[in-house]
Amino acid sequence: MSNVYGVDLGTSNLKVYSKQADQIVKEKNTIAIVNKNQMYAYGDDAYAMYEKAPESIQVSFPITGGVIADYNNMQTLVGSFLGKITKSHAIKGAEFVVAVPTDITEVEKKAFYDLFYKSTFKPKSVMLCDKPIADALGLGLDVTQPTGIMVVDMGADTTEISVISLGGLVLSHLMHFGGNRFDEAIINYFKRNYNLVIGQKTAMDLKEHIGCAIPGIEGSMVIVGLDVVSGLPIQMEITAEMVYNAMKDNLETLCNSIKMILEKVPPELAKDIMNAGIYMTGGGSQLLKLDVLFKDLTNINVNICEDPDECVAKGLSLVIKDAKYSGLAYSMRSKIFK
Ligand SMILES: Nc1ncnc2c1ncn2[C@@H]1O[C@H](COP(=O)(O)OP(=O)(O)OP(=O)(O)O)[C@@H](O)[C@H]1O
Ligand SMILES: [Mg+2]
Repeated sequence: MSNVYGVDLGTSNLKVYSKQADQIVKEKNTIAIVNKNQMYAYGDDAYAMYEKAPESIQVSFPITGGVIADYNNMQTLVGSFLGKITKSHAIKGAEFVVAVPTDITEVEKKAFYDLFYKSTFKPKSVMLCDKPIADALGLGLDVTQPTGIMVVDMGADTTEISVISLGGLVLSHLMHFGGNRFDEAIINYFKRNYNLVIGQKTAMDLKEHIGCAIPGIEGSMVIVGLDVVSGLPIQMEITAEMVYNAMKDNLETLCNSIKMILEKVPPELAKDIMNAGIYMTGGGSQLLKLDVLFKDLTNINVNICEDPDECVAKGLSLVIKDAKYSGLAYSMRSKIFK
């Protein structure tokens, strides 16, 4: 029997729910190419080569800013990944529910649709589902009720701030800002202030292990970087305070956007949000004390969840399994040919 898949193509991670296995599989959304167009590795294996590969191997991320930037490589990657997680006969004629950011153009949305519709696995159907809706479902919320729900999904390249009610989006704002921006800020900070050049993986490690959204947290980590002056590798002990200082300006930008959206929420929905709190998802929401920062800023409770990066895929699994939510996915074709 053909399978049904729920797919969340993130900038950093690819998450796929398979109905047959009833589980979510996650890998880095990375591809390594040799000889211009030959796939050498994909997923976690390709990510392990990132910043370490010789010139003959190009390691890249086919999704940028939440949308498909490299269509061909994305198709190759997704095909190989699906082939690995299920038996090939289950992919032929399969059904797909694909999560898409809301605040993107129809052309960008169609690229997500075509990626599956025009693939070699000849799917039976391809449906789209707005990411914030899937997020809220993944949190265990009933989005079909006339209750306002505010979700902040912070991924690697994007942060989507949305207000949902009655199964639809009342407000949605896609910021081209996410965990990657913090990594870049950390790289720049150490270069400028300490003449130390570090790679993106090291910056990400610092953020994930000693990064914090508020000042005054203790902790340190020893890293290796290149000294700008001598050009030689050096070891340096980095404190949590330094990492906070590197991320401070970006945290402020994020706070301003949340405030801006909150100001636009209709009062009756604002009441619901006050009562239930703001929901935070996406891998970036795991930044230590980010919930505390948002709570201090808004005076509204902030809810965090387990495995926040898999929240969209979890929501897609409900769209696939629970007839009550199947109507939340829509077909692109019906939109195009209208
Ligand atoms: N403990 C942590 N602290 C801070 N950030 C973290 C932590 N764990 C993961 N992250 C960040 O979460 C991001 C990845 O999250 P996620 O998988 O939700 O993104 P994505 O869905 O691939 O991206 P997007 O939704 O923007 O396309 C990375 O930037 C990663 O560094
Ligand atoms: Mg995401």
